[in-house]
Amino acid sequence: MTDQYRRTIDYMRLSVTDRCNLRCRYCMPNGIAQVSHADILTYEEFLQVAATAVELGITKFKVTGGEPLARLGCVDFISCLKALPGVEQVTLTTNGVLLSPFVSCLAEAGIDGVNVSLDAPDRETFADITGFDALPQVLRSLDALLSAGIHTKLNCVLLPGSEERLTSLARFARRGLDVRFIEIMPIGAGVGSHGPSREEALTVLRREWPDLRPTDIRRGNGPAHYYICASLPGHIGMIDAVSHKFCGECNRVRLTSTGFLKPCLCYGEGTNLRAVLRERPEELSEVLRAAIYKKPQAHCFDRTASVTEQKAMSQIGG
Ligand code: GTP
Ligand code: 5AD
Ligand code: SF4
Repeated sequence: MTDQYRRTIDYMRLSVTDRCNLRCRYCMPNGIAQVSHADILTYEEFLQVAATAVELGITKFKVTGGEPLARLGCVDFISCLKALPGVEQVTLTTNGVLLSPFVSCLAEAGIDGVNVSLDAPDRETFADITGFDALPQVLRSLDALLSAGIHTKLNCVLLPGSEERLTSLARFARRGLDVRFIEIMPIGAGVGSHGPSREEALTVLRREWPDLRPTDIRRGNGPAHYYICASLPGHIGMIDAVSHKFCGECNRVRLTSTGFLKPCLCYGEGTNLRAVLRERPEELSEVLRAAIYKKPQAHCFDRTASVTEQKAMSQIGG
């Protein structure tokens, strides 16, 4: 379906849990108050929303968290979602720590891609940023994804001091992975934090790969802009929502683990679909349609005082 600004909305992000096994510095370094289990949608309820969304033209789904694999049954849920009539694509965004034992089941489920967060290439900095010494587990997961032939992307948030790590992180593209650098957004503990810009990151990367150049190729459904060079089989992506606004092309809405439909990442406003699901399910389609239609024109991350979202990224799903 299209929204009030004639954008086609065909992609929904489902945050299946607000819990996470890491404490990333820019997300929720000290944890967050967790919502009670009763307030979290069951997988059946997520599937009910997904089936209704499909009828409205949403055919691509991203499963996120917190850490989605921290919720029991996540891989079975992904299988059911992928098998839902009309669903064209299901992808997963994860921190990769718990992932490796699930890779073969995800491949069997027909997962269309996995994005893994990796902000540091060495064990010490990884532990410093995430609060846990878990880099070996993430690297094991990457090996398993590559062996299974699953399309894999890395997400690296650009933090103050990231410059010295960019080249090592981008070297993962030698293995055919797409490596994306994400500008920090003023959400959660990201408020007030600034890392290198796209241009600064490219300057660093071009010392190693002078022929790195932009391409119009789209990889997936996300807002990344990609760069290529002859010696890297993978692509280098830039996701910079604040400095290079992409709202005019936005194709997505978000559903939090508590069933709150968020039409835009930047605003706290949204629609409580859980109440609709549990009290008047016959209205779900109409409520969902109206909520998508009203999607705001653009974010206001460049005017932080106007950002009304109070939740951490782990409660929203990125
Ligand atoms: P694919 O490339 O199709 O896998 O999608 P994606 O890039 O949207 O997926 P991912 O979950 O890996 O998100 C990467 C980063 O992009 C995260 O930091 C998200 O918060 C950010 N992001 C995704 N969608 C939006 C959006 O609509 N607005 C903004 N501002 N950021 C977004
Ligand atoms: N700004 C940008 N990206 C963020 N992520 C989490 N918090 C922020 C933030 N404030 C990233 C994670 C993950 C993705 C879903 O969102 O690192 O890769
Ligand atoms: Fe880190 Fe993602 Fe967990 Fe936040 S939700 S602490 S960004 S792994």
